[in-house]
Amino acid sequence: MEKTAQAGEAFLDIKDLVVEYHTDDAVIHAVNGVNLKLAKGETLGLVGETGAGKTSIARSILRILPDPPAKIMKGEIWFNGENILKLPEKKVRSIRGDKISMIFQDPMTALNPIETVGSQISEAIRLHNSISRADANKQAVQMLETVGIPGKRFTNYPLEFSGGMKQRVVIAMALACKPELLLADEPTTALDVTIQAQVLEMMRDLQKDFGASVILITHDLGIVAEMCEKVAIIYAGEVVEYGTAEDIFDHRAHPYTEGLFGSIPTIHTKTKRLNPIRGMMPDPANLPSCCRFAGRCPYTTDECTSSYPEMVECKSQPHTVRCVRARVKEGGSQ
Ligand SMILES: Nc1ncnc2c1ncn2[C@@H]1O[C@H](COP(=O)(O)OP(=O)(O)OP(=O)(O)O)[C@@H](O)[C@H]1O
Ligand SMILES: [Mg+2]
Repeated sequence: MEKTAQAGEAFLDIKDLVVEYHTDDAVIHAVNGVNLKLAKGETLGLVGETGAGKTSIARSILRILPDPPAKIMKGEIWFNGENILKLPEKKVRSIRGDKISMIFQDPMTALNPIETVGSQISEAIRLHNSISRADANKQAVQMLETVGIPGKRFTNYPLEFSGGMKQRVVIAMALACKPELLLADEPTTALDVTIQAQVLEMMRDLQKDFGASVILITHDLGIVAEMCEKVAIIYAGEVVEYGTAEDIFDHRAHPYTEGLFGSIPTIHTKTKRLNPIRGMMPDPANLPSCCRFAGRCPYTTDECTSSYPEMVECKSQPHTVRCVRARVKEGGSQ
């Protein structure tokens, strides 16, 4: 029998996830004890600068990290009441592209260069639905048109498409199976604004019509404001701040989040991108044992450079932040 999440259980519950890349030269600590929960129908934004570990988290959920060099060292990923990390590979394969699908940051990762785009979408549909090839082809044409590509391009090969069009094909493939959970890794970065708006609309429809949950990885805070109910700020492989979009936009408490938002005042401001913050993220092969943001933080104290900050609960649930300043603020008067 199909398992479903029980009352009170999160639809997706990532517990203490640790991912490392073991290369010839070093061990890269990409994901360091990440905890994240997602309810059915909810959209969670993962925001953070390059190399923070966002893609590694998403790939862990589908168990498609490149091994070697990637190793999931620790953690549990509960989806619909089952720990994905403990399931046999065959079971995970039946979940991939059916219950969970992913829009990859690089569209060519997901496309086969020697197969037509139409047949790839059609195959994706047939893999998890017992329908005829002709019906799947019809649906594939419809999906192409939904993402703004004329149906007659069904027989074209990926290399005959521009970057933005390839990305739309990948989106069509990911949405064609009507997944319960969509992992969207920078899905609209390569698209112009009109198509971007259409794709976001399609993702919203998927949620409205099928109650799908979405993890949306993006650098675009305007998209976060538009799409996400919850936001996790990722830094050096850790969640440093988590809360509702309102918590993060209007009451952010971590100095890194403050830095990312720079001049952006409220949730209603759109299309601003992340601001560069002075300095660099610590080397993931050599992370400090204290606060990982201490080297760049304008408020660093001796405590920050000598002890490791735990997550602190803020006044409004579920807002949490990994910063000693927040502890002082929350404990005292704010
Ligand atoms: N195949 C790999 N081999 C070695 N190191 C890797 C590999 N893939 C990722 N890493 C390292 O793991 C860390 C996290 O990478 P990840 O791709 O998860 O970050 P990200 O937040 O998705 O970044 P971006 O915003 O640039 O996509 C980085 O230090 C990266 O260099
Ligand atoms: Mg990435």
